[in-house]
Amino acid sequence: MAFPVHRVLLLSSLLCFLPRHDAARVGSYVTVSTASFAASSSTICDDDPGRVIAQQQLQRGNGTSAVLRLTHRHGPCAGPSRSASAPSFAEVLRADERRAEYIQRRMSGAKGPGGLQQFTAASSSKSVTIPANIGHSIGTLQYVVTVSLGTPGVAQTVEVDTGSDVSWVQCAPCAAPACYAQKDQLFDPAKSSSYSAVPCAADACSELSTYGHGCAAGSQCGYVVSYGDGSNTTGVYGSDTLTLTDADAVTGFLFGCGHAQAGLFAGIDGLLALGRKGMSLTSQTSGAYGGGVFSYCLPPSPSSTGFLTLGGPSSASGFATTGLLTAWDVPTFYMVMLTGIGVGGQQLSGVPASAFAGGTVVDTGTVITRLPPTAYAALRAAFRAAMAPYGYPAAPATGILDTCYNFTDYGTVTLPTVSLTFSGGATLKLDAPGFLSSGCLAFATNSGDGDPAILGNVQQRSFAVRFDGSSVGFMPHSC
Ligand SMILES: *[C@@H]1O[C@H](CO)[C@@H](O)[C@H](O)[C@H]1NC(C)=O
Ligand SMILES: *[C@@H]1O[C@H](CO)[C@@H](O)[C@H](O)[C@H]1NC(C)=O
Ligand SMILES: *[C@@H]1O[C@H](CO)[C@@H](O)[C@H](O)[C@H]1NC(C)=O
Repeated sequence: MAFPVHRVLLLSSLLCFLPRHDAARVGSYVTVSTASFAASSSTICDDDPGRVIAQQQLQRGNGTSAVLRLTHRHGPCAGPSRSASAPSFAEVLRADERRAEYIQRRMSGAKGPGGLQQFTAASSSKSVTIPANIGHSIGTLQYVVTVSLGTPGVAQTVEVDTGSDVSWVQCAPCAAPACYAQKDQLFDPAKSSSYSAVPCAADACSELSTYGHGCAAGSQCGYVVSYGDGSNTTGVYGSDTLTLTDADAVTGFLFGCGHAQAGLFAGIDGLLALGRKGMSLTSQTSGAYGGGVFSYCLPPSPSSTGFLTLGGPSSASGFATTGLLTAWDVPTFYMVMLTGIGVGGQQLSGVPASAFAGGTVVDTGTVITRLPPTAYAALRAAFRAAMAPYGYPAAPATGILDTCYNFTDYGTVTLPTVSLTFSGGATLKLDAPGFLSSGCLAFATNSGDGDPAILGNVQQRSFAVRFDGSSVGFMPHSC
């Protein structure tokens, strides 16, 4: 049984721009084939082996960047560890709502004395690229990379998460139900010659601060992380060699050795945290790789691959950039300022700047973009009006998605384009897979005008997204 979202994702490979009679509207609408709606989920990885990765590696310096392959967790590109049990689209949306609510809760203090601040940091010039995939076995539509941990190395498929700071994998000994069944071999620290447990007294343990969990198993540093969707992981903090690519290994990488997990993790072995605090992968490797510069491209369909590059590209040239902001009390998140939305080439009017003032969290772990209610209402009205002349039948709402169409009887469909504009003018012109999921407009509302919005992963697909100390950049059609 095909997971419904796959069929929509397949649009990406058939995406084409057809001329329309109304010359003024060329570029404002996109016509896509619906052949893909009828097809079952693709079983072939159509990634020209390593093409995107090879391109990325050309740009890398001498051992200053690592390029990893990023793929869809359940897609054919994810290889033999592909899990059979993907959750339904409704389950995905429910978990996504819990994550979005959690981000909003954490951010609720950001309106305090410090508000949002422009963040600046010196950056150096080194970089590493990891291939990236989408995974939705975690309960949402997320993306995974495969790395290797320990000596000898054990392959681990881990979710890429810009919204958290502590990386972890499930560790032996770990019996069900404390640990869930995973596809890859369980990492066993006792079998790795390079593993060390972090003592409670170590600085690395105190740096865990709110993720610290006292002393476990004698004098070992304990950790606990609870996620927005209600899941959590508990275990001991340790360090080992993390091998990113054949040419790139990080020695002494600090991570959680998870001995008890609860929630929607089935199908991944752990999580690679790319947040902004000191214990994240990007922070731990900033000395080796480009002062913390990193980029990723989330693949537009399960049968394609993207990448995660640590350390590059060193220049933002070619990227549409916007300033990186920091919420004074939630330094984990990469914040930007969304300023406007366009539908069918027309900017939405009637959305006050104050609606966007809470900033926008760029999050790989949230699926659907959340907008302030005023902005979402204006987008929905404009999208429905632009769709009306084509007479596509409405389909029932799916969870948080309330603008859905039934394209069953159509060979092609014409859709208004949707664009997002950020402070400074950077504009993301979304392709159909960037604004439609399962036939629904893939946006939803956040808790209130002035509360933080979230740029979800549906909207980021196929863009290279680059982060450095002061800006976030977007480049279309990069994977
Ligand atoms: C790598 O280093 C060598 C020698 O230092 C230099 O000639 C070469 O241009 C460098 N390559 C890149 C991609 O920076
Ligand atoms: C993790 O979640 C489970 C299920 O909700 C809960 O029973 C458990 O107490 C949580 N563990 C921690 C350490 O928060
Ligand atoms: C979509 O349209 C087809 C053909 O008109 C119909 O058979 C099907 O029941 C509709 N699906 C939904 C969810 O409305």
